[in-house]
Amino acid sequence: MGRDAEKLECLANDLRARGAQEVSYRATDLLEFDTHPSALEGAFSALGTIDVALIAHGTLPNQPKCETDTRLAVREFSLNATVTISLLTLLAQEMADLGRGTIAVITSVAGDRGRPSNYVYGSAKAAVSVFCEGLRARVFAKGVHVIDIRPGFVDTQMTRHLELPSLLVASPAAVARRIIWGIRRRKDVLYVPYFWAFILFLIRNIPAPVFKRMSL
Ligand SMILES: NC(=O)c1ccc[n+]([C@@H]2O[C@H](COP(=O)([O-])OP(=O)(O)OC[C@H]3O[C@@H](n4cnc5c(N)ncnc54)[C@H](OP(=O)(O)O)[C@@H]3O)[C@@H](O)[C@H]2O)c1
Repeated sequence: MGRDAEKLECLANDLRARGAQEVSYRATDLLEFDTHPSALEGAFSALGTIDVALIAHGTLPNQPKCETDTRLAVREFSLNATVTISLLTLLAQEMADLGRGTIAVITSVAGDRGRPSNYVYGSAKAAVSVFCEGLRARVFAKGVHVIDIRPGFVDTQMTRHLELPSLLVASPAAVARRIIWGIRRRKDVLYVPYFWAFILFLIRNIPAPVFKRMSL
């Protein structure tokens, strides 16, 4: 799913060229919450069933603008958090009824700690991570697995305008390989690449009085 039908058609053609037998897509603005049930019903009926659902939409908010524009801040939070929670709730119901399946959600390392430079995005991702933790425990006994995927910097459209330390930026292909690995091993939380687990361990352990004096 995405908003741009032309972009989705290009993506579908690329997947077909790489050997995918069945590709369906739907152009929709996920902020229109009422469309979520029919979008998922469409996916289930097109595919017959769903073994793995990957929730991967998102936007990187303009943090300084969000600090003065409450509508923008709420919109960004909504897309990154409440839209995801709505999709998770619907998917979990369907998969729990089936008694199997994996729900994979891309959150972010940004959700591990609220940093002054991106706490609108970070708090939305943190909300999804905590939601996933509870949901995972609820649907575990029903045979459904929930994996929370936390990437660091990835070279995509989202980050192309940012100046990032190149050593820390992963390629989408490397991220995809690790996500597949994590899904196959039924990981609960997956840092991508793995070294972010160590970086975030250190960041999470910075005492709050020190952390608030740092401009991260
Ligand atoms: N890139 C990074 O460094 C990084 C790091 C950590 C986590 N992440 C997370 O990884 C996931 C994938 O992001 P990405 O890096 O691949 O970014 P991206 O290239 O900008 O992709 C974001 C996707 O979200 C879709 N989207 C945005 N707003 C939407 C809306 N209102 N309705 C429907 N679809 C919408 C976009 O589709 P359209 O624009 O065509 O609608 C696009 O397909 C996101 O959850 C992001 O937060 C990324």
